Amino acid sequence: MKIGLLGLGNIGSTLARRLPTAGHLVRAANSRGPETIDEDILSTGTRAVTAEEAVRDVDVIILSIPLSTLPKIAELLASVPSETVLIDTSNYYPSRDGRIEAIENGQPESEWVIEQLRRPVIKAWNAVGAATLENRNLPAGHPDRIGLPISGDDPEAKRVAATLMDDSGFDAVDAGWITDSWRQQPGSPVYCTELSAAQIPAALETAQKERLPKLREFAAAILLERWGNPNVTTDPGYAVKLSRMIYM
Ligand SMILES: NC(=O)c1ccc[n+]([C@@H]2O[C@H](COP(=O)([O-])OP(=O)(O)OC[C@H]3O[C@@H](n4cnc5c(N)ncnc54)[C@H](OP(=O)(O)O)[C@@H]3O)[C@@H](O)[C@H]2O)c1
Repeated sequence: MKIGLLGLGNIGSTLARRLPTAGHLVRAANSRGPETIDEDILSTGTRAVTAEEAVRDVDVIILSIPLSTLPKIAELLASVPSETVLIDTSNYYPSRDGRIEAIENGQPESEWVIEQLRRPVIKAWNAVGAATLENRNLPAGHPDRIGLPISGDDPEAKRVAATLMDDSGFDAVDAGWITDSWRQQPGSPVYCTELSAAQIPAALETAQKERLPKLREFAAAILLERWGNPNVTTDPGYAVKLSRMIYM
């Protein structure tokens, strides 16, 4: 597939390195321009381009930028054909994104994103921590392979997203419509807990919407305290253990 990727941070940089290894043609952009993109990110064949070039003449666009910056790219996407599949990895963290009243009042994050972009998205890769995405990818059929939820309203676009998820080393699990996509938001039992595909449907069922923001903030506060403290060493699996303890 021809893929345009916007955002080359924790999540986007891993997708940029991995998706070409499955035969995809990837063009990627950050906010500062192609000359600022690290050579290492391009080592498997991804091409560094401008944001305008990244979204032109592609089958799929993956958005991996902070949620609060998504409204700014609505204009950029306005001329993208409607059949181009849009996949969004974003999550809402008020400490980073600022307070968004509609989401605070219970609107699923992806519904808000769709309103801002004025086009449908598939929600995918939002529920995997950056370290898990980078280090825990496994071939299809491996008994330890991790599953990840995807939500969306267009079955064909979802199928495309599931294929790319598979190519990134994870099993895709259909988590339903966008209206139900809060079940995979931060604070939910499937969020960064490294479940198998078989465990995900039951975990989605047990999610309790009104508890999610509180649980998200508990976990974020603990992680920030640890990461900001030079006297504390945090083992690489700590964030997943914490997520399991708090979210499940
Ligand atoms: N970190 C995680 O573990 C994790 C897990 C799952 C989902 N997510 C979600 O995935 C999204 C990306 O997270 P991240 O941690 O990878 O973010 P990040 O490390 O902060 O990187 C953000 C990237 O977006 C780029 N960007 C910002 N505005 C842009 C624009 N208008 N056009 C093109 N690129 C733009 C930035 O480019 P510059 O550097 O040039 O500004 C940067 O490359 C967020 O919504 C996050 O909530 C994160």
